[in-house]
Amino acid sequence: MKGERMSTVIIAVLWRQRRNTELHEDFTGETLDDDAMEEALNHCQALKEAGFSTEMVQWQPEEPELTLQTIRKIKPELVFNASSEREVAFCEACGVPYAGSGINLVPLDKATRKKIWLQDGIPTPNFITISKPTKGRQIRDMLLRQNLDFPLFVKPVDGRGSSGITRDSIVKNESELAEVSRKILKSLKQPALVEEYIEGREISAGVIGNGDQTTVMPLLEIGYTDAPTNTYAHKMKDKERLICPAPLPQQHEENLKMLAIRAYQALNARDYGRMDIMLKAGKPYFLELNTFAGLASPNVRQLGQDSEIHLSYMSKMAASAGKSQSWLVGSIVEAALQRYANSPL
Ligand SMILES: Nc1ncnc2c1ncn2[C@@H]1O[C@H](COP(=O)(O)OP(=O)(O)OP(=O)(O)O)[C@@H](O)[C@H]1O
Ligand SMILES: [Mg+2]
Repeated sequence: MKGERMSTVIIAVLWRQRRNTELHEDFTGETLDDDAMEEALNHCQALKEAGFSTEMVQWQPEEPELTLQTIRKIKPELVFNASSEREVAFCEACGVPYAGSGINLVPLDKATRKKIWLQDGIPTPNFITISKPTKGRQIRDMLLRQNLDFPLFVKPVDGRGSSGITRDSIVKNESELAEVSRKILKSLKQPALVEEYIEGREISAGVIGNGDQTTVMPLLEIGYTDAPTNTYAHKMKDKERLICPAPLPQQHEENLKMLAIRAYQALNARDYGRMDIMLKAGKPYFLELNTFAGLASPNVRQLGQDSEIHLSYMSKMAASAGKSQSWLVGSIVEAALQRYANSPL
């Protein structure tokens, strides 16, 4: 990384409270530990190590004009790392350059993204959405029309970080399906996405870059040790067994990486993204693309504080390729800067 050249490049590290917890808090009614500020400090440190200057900016959801004033004072080259539709819309509306996917992708829910994938020949589990309390004959007809049968997997159509995903997400009959979808509708005020349950190996593909500079990091396999699937609790308590690179025959790995780039580009994703894929009898099923994938790592020296930061899947992939955390966030920021240089707002 060319540290000296970049030290004058100012990156505004935008962060917001409860970025990773708000949805699951709404789902369960629990209060969860919020590590959003630690995560942002983690990014600042890694970006400094990559040779950038950084300034922290807290997103003020009630008063976006205050956020804008701060950003205008700092005059950053780029905002990193917007983590919600509103922040992306704000950057877009105010003409502030930002890292990550744009307003043409971020607001699309999982069902809409899956329809785009299907159109582009990217395999994804068969599905329906339930947008009002439904049971009995009505549910049977909906499943029949889409050729779906139990067991099924039920999750929020606009979820993230496994929010709203518990052991109950795998449903075996109509009454379980009605109950889990009712809870999603009521607590999260969003439709339930009902997919065929793909029981198999879980693989995650981390992508960085744009256009012909798009690359995939080593594939990561996620094993479950304490739950039948990657539930919120399983993820937050770091119960996953992470294997990187995923043990796959070389040809299979290459095919999957190529498919991951196609899936990323089909959605017009930008700068970085992480896709979750299930493998059943060797056949891939793309579950989703994360436009706000976690990027933090406990391996970054913190700014004089004890941090309980989780190791993000993206950081694990980078480390397995022998790359540092500053390489990971630095590469994403450089991809974004390059994108603006190629095509300014
Ligand atoms: N159709 C499915 N079949 C089997 N397992 C599934 C299915 N859908 C989701 N899962 C499991 O649930 C987890 C979370 O689902 P998904 O990735 O769609 O949600 P998310 O909340 O957006 O996750 P992330 O933490 O990546 O933001 C997956 O990683 C996988 O373990
Ligand atoms: Mg996921």
